[in-house]
Amino acid sequence: MSAAVSEHRVQALRSRAHQVLAGNWREGRLADGTEYGFSCPSLPRYRHQWYWDSCFHAIVWRHFDRARAREELRTLLRAGRLDGFIPHTIFWHDRAGWRRAPFYATHSVQGNRATAHIQTPMLALAWEAVAEASVDAPGFRAEAIDALRLHYDWLDQHRDPDRDGLISIIHPDESGLDDSPKYDEVFGWMSHYLPGYFWLVERSRRLDYDSRAIIERYDEHIEDVLVNVLYALALRSLARLSGDLKYMHRAERTERALLERSWDDEAGLFWDLAGRSETPVKVSTWSSLAPLALPSLPEPIARRLIEEHLLDPRRYRAPYGIPSVSMEEPSFRAGWHLFRCWRGPAWVNTAWLLMPALARLGYRHEAERILTSLIVLAEQHGFREYYNPLNGEGLAARHFGWSTLLVDLLPDTDSPQDSADVAAGVNGSLIGEICTVGSEAALGIGDLTLDAARRLRRALLR
Ligand code: GLC
Repeated sequence: MSAAVSEHRVQALRSRAHQVLAGNWREGRLADGTEYGFSCPSLPRYRHQWYWDSCFHAIVWRHFDRARAREELRTLLRAGRLDGFIPHTIFWHDRAGWRRAPFYATHSVQGNRATAHIQTPMLALAWEAVAEASVDAPGFRAEAIDALRLHYDWLDQHRDPDRDGLISIIHPDESGLDDSPKYDEVFGWMSHYLPGYFWLVERSRRLDYDSRAIIERYDEHIEDVLVNVLYALALRSLARLSGDLKYMHRAERTERALLERSWDDEAGLFWDLAGRSETPVKVSTWSSLAPLALPSLPEPIARRLIEEHLLDPRRYRAPYGIPSVSMEEPSFRAGWHLFRCWRGPAWVNTAWLLMPALARLGYRHEAERILTSLIVLAEQHGFREYYNPLNGEGLAARHFGWSTLLVDLLPDTDSPQDSADVAAGVNGSLIGEICTVGSEAALGIGDLTLDAARRLRRALLR
């Protein structure tokens, strides 16, 4: 372990992270007997279950308590419909408060148990990670395959009407990046942080959230890069879980479409595609760098994303973490804003997705620098919702669930191989392992499970 981050510090962070997830744990039973158990993002503001937050939580829970990791994902699945749709937010034991209720994308203003829109669909990715850790419950791996198939088939059928392999979001918050400046022009007066968002919700309600009809009739929808990256990774996971190559082909189709349609060779970035005309949205946010997490990304492109953007001090190389928007963008704001998020501050899930590529492609010092800055942030301010990337100030919600993803980037202190240095921890994270799985073709190795990938990675690092 490097001198800077002792095993003692790693253990202290792990135990603090465990406390956060445990403190946010909520469980109960509905009147009809349906049981639930999940970590909410942060009390009191975010007291419900959110789709992608739960996936992140489960990925971290698997380091502490596999039964809870499994329960968090099963609960999310239980909120899904028979046709495969799984909601963005689920109100398990109390309904949305009156002030916020009109802004939740539900079917009606009152009385719904969940929203009618989606969130970045990464469930199969989290499921596979938890299944790999579930040596105590080997049946977990297969128990939801039918439901997961339905979920990804629903996305394919309802969110990709032009059949180009890229799924669309119809509300800006469906990506989880609610107020990102990349949505400003597309959603205009209906942006998530403006009162007009109420009308966007109302319009979707009137069309019964029929995404195909909405995509056909309007231009306020986006083939979002981040959403499609996590969708492709999840499809790869589903292919490994189910053994059905159809999902691997779908993942490859999505990854190819990102390269063919979203990649801008001049800018060296991936752009979201907006509306029926698929107009590139040329605002540089961390989503433009997200394909770094794809095992299939050609190395020259990965290096351009890293060298021209991620490591450029005018763009994304900040003192703390990775900013959510390029510092060069006029819309970049480093600090907190009452009604806006994702306009500059550094979030831990951003680093979690992007950093493994740095370590893998030989920028280990940079990976170590970013990880060390996040460790300092968590030690000084606790697990906050996000941080100011310029001065390190902790911002917004406290005890924020997915900020504990830092644990997934830390060296695994139970594993002697990982205690070599901090950067080894980055490589050992879930995304690091997935990219190792992706190297199977290059190495002439067949279908690797994550566990085999972990062993392979260790062999390569030695
Ligand atoms: C904010 C974030 C979103 C997250 C939710 C709950 O709305 O933008 O990504 O899922 O909070 O934490």
